[in-house]
Amino acid sequence: MSDATGGTQGGGGGPVGGAGREARAGAGRGASARGGAGPRSRALNAVARRLFPGGVNSPVRAFKSVGSEPPVIRAAKGAWLTDVDGRRYVDLIGAWGPMIVGHSHPAVVAAVTRRMRRGSATGTPSPDEPRLGARVTATMPWVERLRFVVSGTEACMAALRLARAATGREAVVKFEGCYHGHGDAFLSSAGSGALTFDAPDSPGVPQAVVGATVTVPYNDLAAVARAFAAHPGKIAAVFVEPIVGNMGFVRPDADFLPGLRRLCDANGALLVFDEVMTGFRVHRGGAQALFGVRPDLVTLGKVIGGGFPVGAYGGRADLMAMVAPEGKVYQAGTLAGHPVAMTAGLATLREIQRPGQYERLASVTAKLADGLEATLRAAGIDAVAPRQGGMMGLWFAKVAPRNLAEAKATKTDLFRAYHRAMIEAGVYLPPSPYEAWFVSTAHGDAEIAHVLDATAAWARGAQR
Ligand SMILES: Cc1ncc(COP(=O)(O)O)c(C=O)c1O
Repeated sequence: MSDATGGTQGGGGGPVGGAGREARAGAGRGASARGGAGPRSRALNAVARRLFPGGVNSPVRAFKSVGSEPPVIRAAKGAWLTDVDGRRYVDLIGAWGPMIVGHSHPAVVAAVTRRMRRGSATGTPSPDEPRLGARVTATMPWVERLRFVVSGTEACMAALRLARAATGREAVVKFEGCYHGHGDAFLSSAGSGALTFDAPDSPGVPQAVVGATVTVPYNDLAAVARAFAAHPGKIAAVFVEPIVGNMGFVRPDADFLPGLRRLCDANGALLVFDEVMTGFRVHRGGAQALFGVRPDLVTLGKVIGGGFPVGAYGGRADLMAMVAPEGKVYQAGTLAGHPVAMTAGLATLREIQRPGQYERLASVTAKLADGLEATLRAAGIDAVAPRQGGMMGLWFAKVAPRNLAEAKATKTDLFRAYHRAMIEAGVYLPPSPYEAWFVSTAHGDAEIAHVLDATAAWARGAQR
């Protein structure tokens, strides 16, 4: 994930009834003035801060943008997290996307346990690789062939290399607020409009690398057209999150993705959908199926690893034939297509693809999103909760933002206060207004009621 403030990194069917009630009873106990982190969490965080930059192994986990301290989670089951102080939380992070059927889903646990007994990694082809690959290609309309890697970052870096090789061009267009992992070429901010190449966003990123990246506002087709006009014959690919999760939840305008397709075709560039977050989450066939727009390449991660480290890139068969060892575009990985991750991903997809599960996921997400809007508006707070499938956002604003500038103009201070109150009340939200929320099929009425009760209590206080 990324956090548009510049910090950052960027779920089955666990029992909802009994476990939910028990968890609700425990939620909120041990609350502290430190953003909900109890004494044991604080002690572990103190050690972690000495060992790891910011005390974490991925920036967003540090709660920096909400100015508090993260509870340290020791266990996760269904829709609930338990921290080392025994406090329980409704989980709306879902490990940042993978846990679509909830944590510790019995079918996933059983499959992974069976696999582990046969060995974890062998560095050879393993049986679930083709099974998972076949399921992905059968479900995603424009993934004809693919390659498994270890993370979404790696998938995006490899897709960019392939796009450059296939087109013989070097430049790439991306959008403000979209995140494509921490590969150097993507860590840049816009130069002046679409006309100049970017500047590095992070120390250590060479100007020479981002010197081929152009960043333009999301939902701005005219800016993309200007970029093509300013750099004729140079742009290899347009990378886009087809629904954005990394500046908070932002939906594409109806003509945006079809317009990108047209502009790429007209200019000989490839269209790359980064579906690391949206893949198997916003729709059974990803955003590409939801919107019916054809990408040339697709990047994946999160859900397809079922909570284990996985990424993938794929798409047109003729492009994938260029990848080594079939073709000359080099890319490899000791643990790529990791057997346990393949098994976990396969078990997760089998569960979420059972009849009715996507419908259930969308309806639970919609109930939560509608409930939040109603609860906050009833208290006189402007709020809008856009959602799609099992992904949503919450903006303290009258209307949902369409790009990063609009996202930044929402009441982010209110989100920070809300976040602290929710942690205290036993709801684990992403610690930034610029992150999407992830719902699972393990979430149900008990969890929604818990979140809405906590929200109502905060909203009443926020009015005083
Ligand atoms: C759209 C998108 N692309 C790429 C990535 C990078 O994936 P990873 O964190 O697995 O490297 C992320 C991570 O959140 C993402 O949301």
